[in-house]
Amino acid sequence: MLTIKAHEGIENMFYRQKFDTFIRIFDDVGYITNKSDFADRVTDASGTSFLSALSRSPQSLDTLCEKIAASFVGVTPQDVREDALAFYAMLETDGFIVSGETPEELDTKDTRFSYTALNPKTAKTDFTPQILRAKKSSQEYLEEHFKGSPRLFSFQMELTSRCNERCVHCYIPHENKISDIKPELFYEVLEQCKEMGVLSVTLSGGEPILHKNFCDFLRKAKEYDFSINILSNLTLLNDEIIAEMKANRLSSVQVSLYSMKPEIHDSITMLPGSFCKTRDNILRLIENDIPLQISCPTMKQNKNCFADVMKWAHDHKCRATTDFIMMARYDHTCSNLDNRLDLDDVGKVITDIIEGDTQYQKDILGSDFAERDQRDRSNDIVCGVCVSSICMVANGNIYPCAGWQDYICGNVQQTPLREIWENAPKVKYLRGLRKKDFPECVQCLDRGFCAMCMVRNANENPEGDPLKINPHFCKVAALNRKIVLDWRNKKKTTQ
Ligand SMILES: C[S@@+](CC[C@H](N)C(=O)[O-])C[C@H]1O[C@@H](n2cnc3c(N)ncnc32)[C@H](O)[C@@H]1O
Ligand code: SF4
Ligand code: SF4
Repeated sequence: MLTIKAHEGIENMFYRQKFDTFIRIFDDVGYITNKSDFADRVTDASGTSFLSALSRSPQSLDTLCEKIAASFVGVTPQDVREDALAFYAMLETDGFIVSGETPEELDTKDTRFSYTALNPKTAKTDFTPQILRAKKSSQEYLEEHFKGSPRLFSFQMELTSRCNERCVHCYIPHENKISDIKPELFYEVLEQCKEMGVLSVTLSGGEPILHKNFCDFLRKAKEYDFSINILSNLTLLNDEIIAEMKANRLSSVQVSLYSMKPEIHDSITMLPGSFCKTRDNILRLIENDIPLQISCPTMKQNKNCFADVMKWAHDHKCRATTDFIMMARYDHTCSNLDNRLDLDDVGKVITDIIEGDTQYQKDILGSDFAERDQRDRSNDIVCGVCVSSICMVANGNIYPCAGWQDYICGNVQQTPLREIWENAPKVKYLRGLRKKDFPECVQCLDRGFCAMCMVRNANENPEGDPLKINPHFCKVAALNRKIVLDWRNKKKTTQ
């Protein structure tokens, strides 16, 4: 309301969306998201007219009102002016757009992602309930709204399966690390994504920076206004790529860092010297204010190290996550799982996670935590695969989720992406699954502590069946519940 008052009497303010903000319009629904603080909003049909008038270029209030009025019958720009002021003031207060008396003032007010402006974030800050709840409500709204014809929001492309590392746990069989995407195919599919209104494009691999057209690909993705994420080991970063990343509005670079001890990190990547390259290039990205997320999958080799990685990330104001449930390779050869933590070690990691995360501790001590996730979820979707996201490998094969490359739903060299997304039988099958299709899970007491996942089921199952629950998850979920609830009871009795 304050912002509205500030505008009163000013004949013509300028408005534009912020650098880190993305807008998508789906018929009568509008969506705006700010990738630097994970906020998002969904608008109803009339709000969508106000939202769609905005762009990355400064526009005067008069221009915006003219555009808005044109989308209603018998309405003048003057009629919508007051509503426009209120709507844009709200978006500005929530950090999505900037306003000012001159375009230059907008540039001054558009504060972008910067490490100097961030408070340190712990591993778990990513998963604070506020952020999850905020994302979830928009996501749930959109899922509900588009029921029957889901929209593709996130598309992941493996630019190359080649890699300069040979990580012991990698879900891509090493002998399959051989193909690059052809540039024509990349550009063609990117255009199809643009036409389908895709919001976020993830460039992964193998090691995506190995592709000789990596910078050209980034430029094109920026031209199409995608929110871009990159998954990389960063060992091959150079000045040209940093400059391109800086110019691009990257939403995040996710980098794998397994230990702060060079010999342990290198024993996982099997590439001598990789630790120093990855760490130094993380520091270069931080210097350049490029948003980073450190991923530290925990396995036998680094089971005592992940807390050091979390601390280092925290000290450098980087987000960081760990994952102790490794998936099998997508060709169902499971020898990479020899590196997976056994249950005792998983227990130690879970305990360390609790001890190292004060926000998580507060959640656990919350009044409703003991009943966590015990509500009936039998009609909920299983996850976002084929509901809002899908992936592609270098040869154009479309598959549901990272690591599930052998579940081929179609190929974009033969069939347009939209056709695969809307009609491919495997996509429709996965989209139609609900929690109740996993009968063991419906009444399971451990379900609130479980990371059951279809690709993990499928890869570890010789027939590749995503519905065959992997017993490892059940053991981890039961252990997770026990450790968390024991910790809670102990704290409650000493409080
Ligand atoms: C496949 S890599 C591709 C991007 C890049 N080469 C990298 O390593 O960051 C993406 C992420 O998947 C993780 N990953 C690889 N194999 C995995 C497995 N079997 N289970 C869980 N995560 C795995 C890696 O540690 C990395 O964080
Ligand atoms: S995890 Fe990434 S860096 Fe390691 S081998 Fe696999 S693709 Fe390469
Ligand atoms: S613990 Fe097992 S049965 Fe229970 S929800 Fe998880 S996967 Fe399903």
